[in-house]
Amino acid sequence: MPIPEMETIWFNGELVPWHEARVHVLTHALHYGSGVFEGIRCYKAEKGPEVFRLTDHIKRLYRSSKLYYMPIPYTPEELRHATFDLVKSNRLDACYIRPIVFRGYGEMGLLPLTSSVDVAIAAWPWGTYLGEEGMARGVRAKFSSIQSLDHTSLARAAKATGQYLNSILAKVEVTNAGYDEAIMLNEHGHVSEGSGENIFVVRDGKVLTPPTADGVLEGITRDMVIELCEAEGLPFQERTLTRSDLIVADEVFFTGTAAEIVPVREIDHHFIGEPGPVTRTMQDRYKAIVEGRDEAFAHYVEYVE
Ligand SMILES: Cc1ncc(COP(=O)(O)O)c(C=O)c1O
Repeated sequence: MPIPEMETIWFNGELVPWHEARVHVLTHALHYGSGVFEGIRCYKAEKGPEVFRLTDHIKRLYRSSKLYYMPIPYTPEELRHATFDLVKSNRLDACYIRPIVFRGYGEMGLLPLTSSVDVAIAAWPWGTYLGEEGMARGVRAKFSSIQSLDHTSLARAAKATGQYLNSILAKVEVTNAGYDEAIMLNEHGHVSEGSGENIFVVRDGKVLTPPTADGVLEGITRDMVIELCEAEGLPFQERTLTRSDLIVADEVFFTGTAAEIVPVREIDHHFIGEPGPVTRTMQDRYKAIVEGRDEAFAHYVEYVE
């Protein structure tokens, strides 16, 4: 779906008209994938628009930029206010927000340390990532033949632009095979994550997800679900998972800012099940939290100032 055109984009310190937020074709990041980014959602909450866990997303952006030697020329507070200004200037309430930090135009070559670091933040309305039907009834997933990135090749904890070529290969492969989403395995054959989501399983009432050492992004929605397990009194464990663990699970679900909490109904033609009680509880509670209706997690609801 084409990105709907908004009025402004925050680019290197100021709000510029949408079509003026341009870069040169010789921009370093375009050639070498030298960028880091975030995916954030703003929700229409009880007391107005709120940018969910903005502080945590900004923190991860700084961690990603550190991992790739890219000092951000703004403070976290400046980026926080830039995000609020952007949402207000485009008169948005529910939207997706995409900050990106990248090596800019000026120098080519693989040593990027003297190239400029540019920062942009854009926002636009973006509906359910894996579709309304997938959200309600569950998606069909397939194990991809593309191995997820390993810690010795790249800074696995970073949300970096170049790293997403790995996800793109997996996503295209399973889409061409007629599935909704990919599940990737790491170099040891252990389950890592979806192409753009973390993954959870429920077995005999216990909630399990792979540890970050198995090559998963430290997802903010993943963290939310882990906190919700405690709040709901559900036993939880971070544990290495195999292909078999997923196929025999009682419930499987994906988590991500764009995707939110999405049941998996089928994997490689194995029927997992209709969305189960734990998945439904997580979906309902997550919705209540992001809409500012859950007092226990009100501290994650960051109203646009
Ligand atoms: C590869 C990958 N894993 C996991 C996630 C989920 O992370 P979060 O919940 O912070 O959006 C994302 C999305 O950002 C992702 O792209």
